[in-house]
Amino acid sequence: MNILVTGGAGYIGSHTCLELLSAGHAVTVLDNYSNSKPESLNRVERLTGKTIRRIEGDIRDGAVLRRALTESGAEAVIHFAGLKAVGESVQLPLQYYDNNVVGTLRLLEAMQACGVKTLVFSSSATVYGDPQRLPLTEDHPLSATNPYGRTKLVIEDMLRDAFAGDASWRFGILRYFNPVGAHASGQIGEDPQGVPNNLLPFVAQVAVGRREFLNVWGNDYDTPDGTGVRDYIHVVDLALGHLRTLEALSKAPAGQGQCMAINLGTGVGYSVLDMVKAFEAASGKPIAYQIQARRPGDIAACYADPTTAKEVLGWQATRDLQTMCADAWNWQRNNPLGYGG
Ligand code: UD1
Repeated sequence: MNILVTGGAGYIGSHTCLELLSAGHAVTVLDNYSNSKPESLNRVERLTGKTIRRIEGDIRDGAVLRRALTESGAEAVIHFAGLKAVGESVQLPLQYYDNNVVGTLRLLEAMQACGVKTLVFSSSATVYGDPQRLPLTEDHPLSATNPYGRTKLVIEDMLRDAFAGDASWRFGILRYFNPVGAHASGQIGEDPQGVPNNLLPFVAQVAVGRREFLNVWGNDYDTPDGTGVRDYIHVVDLALGHLRTLEALSKAPAGQGQCMAINLGTGVGYSVLDMVKAFEAASGKPIAYQIQARRPGDIAACYADPTTAKEVLGWQATRDLQTMCADAWNWQRNNPLGYGG
């Protein structure tokens, strides 16, 4: 298939482009490189021996979108482009609504104009808010506690409304749990700009000597060791979930669309201290840490019920915690300064 990937140079996007190319798809990336570097795509090309068509541009620009859809001959779009830092979204809410909500609206309009009706959207487990029950099933009530989360929820609602008005759309809404790790080659991985917000990139930077110690945000949660529990998922498993979603969407009979929301997680929760121990084992480096107060807005525990993905997509995560940490370390060690090194 010809696939347009927005935000394809980013962390999850680059890993998905690699798997798409390896599976024989033709990939066009539309990216404004606001939080990524074209070098990730150079590396994907080297790893696969295939070429990516690249368009530098912004998803809020309808003309660029129509050009990207037309030039790529897109049959489907995978939409990663967006802003994703919770703290920043509190400071800059309008930028978040503009990039994420307006950007996705423009994308849908352009797709409609070009007759492209299949979209895979990067949502997040953040749309479940503070879990009322665990594991999280897709029918858990939706809510959001910060502007970033609200943009994801608004976009999900927009897709459901669009589908209600035109049932020929094919939407796969993927609710990611906590993506970590890197491609086994160590050539592509997560390259956070500035101080990492997320746990594993921070731990990796401590291991490589870029940071002195990890701040553990709270050890008084109602969890086995008091630290926060999350469902960490290997980014390659996550990338493969997108391919399975495209396959499932393309199986729908002609003219008959669908709109499905699916968790992409492992179903297993690990604590912050579990992650520290696993990373120490994978890297052979001690990870110094200090217990701090809770981070505002954090929840105690969050993990998926991955049953729907297995039943509907035939997909399940296969890479374990050891592999996640070993691959994250391999990337970090080979690229201590990320793509900028
Ligand atoms: C965060 C976002 C979430 C978003 C996701 C994207 C918040 C509150 N949530 O998820 O909306 O979809 O990133 O990747 O920001 N931790 C530490 N020290 C650190 C960093 C994290 O102890 O330096 C702990 C956190 O308290 C949490 C766990 O590690 O218990 C995971 O944190 P993180 O990687 O930031 O992910 P989430 O908070 O789950």
